[in-house]
Amino acid sequence: MRNEGRDPHPGESLPLKGTLYGIGVGPGDPELLTLKAARILREVPVIAVPTSYSDAGSMAMEVIAPLLEERARVGRSPEIVSLLFPMTRDESILQKAREQNGALLLDSLSRGDVAFVALGDILFYSTFGNLLTGLSSLRSPLPVEVVPGVTSFAAAAGRLVEPLVQGSERLAVLPAVYDPSEIEAVLDRFEVVVLMKINKVFGEVRALLARKNLLDRAAFVAMVGRPEERISRTLDELPPGSVPYMSLLVVRKNGWLSP
Ligand SMILES: C[S@@+](CC[C@H](N)C(=O)[O-])C[C@H]1O[C@@H](n2cnc3c(N)ncnc32)[C@H](O)[C@@H]1O
Repeated sequence: MRNEGRDPHPGESLPLKGTLYGIGVGPGDPELLTLKAARILREVPVIAVPTSYSDAGSMAMEVIAPLLEERARVGRSPEIVSLLFPMTRDESILQKAREQNGALLLDSLSRGDVAFVALGDILFYSTFGNLLTGLSSLRSPLPVEVVPGVTSFAAAAGRLVEPLVQGSERLAVLPAVYDPSEIEAVLDRFEVVVLMKINKVFGEVRALLARKNLLDRAAFVAMVGRPEERISRTLDELPPGSVPYMSLLVVRKNGWLSP
């Protein structure tokens, strides 16, 4: 795979001095950052952050802002490297971005450790997976360590104070945007369904839930853990305001514990 049909990037041949840490910073509340994540983020010379899909990168930076301020106060600010993740399905654009991100990271790793931060868990619908694919085609083996984070749906269940699943209940988690027509079959099979990436298909999803008499079993949670967090325990009424990218639905067909 490596180097096929193209010139090697300079970074591909550099010896690597550092480890790449993939760090899930949780959904938005800085107090949901793990101790391990905080320790690494206090030490690394370089922090890499994804840009260009929604506000995810800047939200991840806001989560770690208290740590960055702490480092700035003692004159140990890290270098911040922005990595571009274009929102397109055009494979040639995606491949170019993968190569550019890979080259940037390999260059930083040739000098020392790098922590890549992303919202929620780092391996759950995260740009880090994409990054690893690109990097492993440039350089293998690669020294990588993963620090899991609290997922947005775990935080959402916590704010609803409702169990996600209990006993024999089964949970399905899926992104709604790619094939909304599949959601109905999933709702028929699972007792609890979490729908991520709902903003572009919200009307369609709400109409489906209405048809299946599930509006009062569907909680809407937006910007969980952040000051602008919004929660509606039912979709009988439309949630006020727009539906942001950082929102999800938890559908509990067996109903809520608390009314
Ligand atoms: C690219 S995925 C990232 C998932 C993330 N890695 C996680 O573990 O939750 C983006 C989707 O996650 C959900 N999401 C992430 N952060 C959220 C938040 N703070 N509040 C509500 N939903 C969030 C939304 O459904 C959003 O469309």
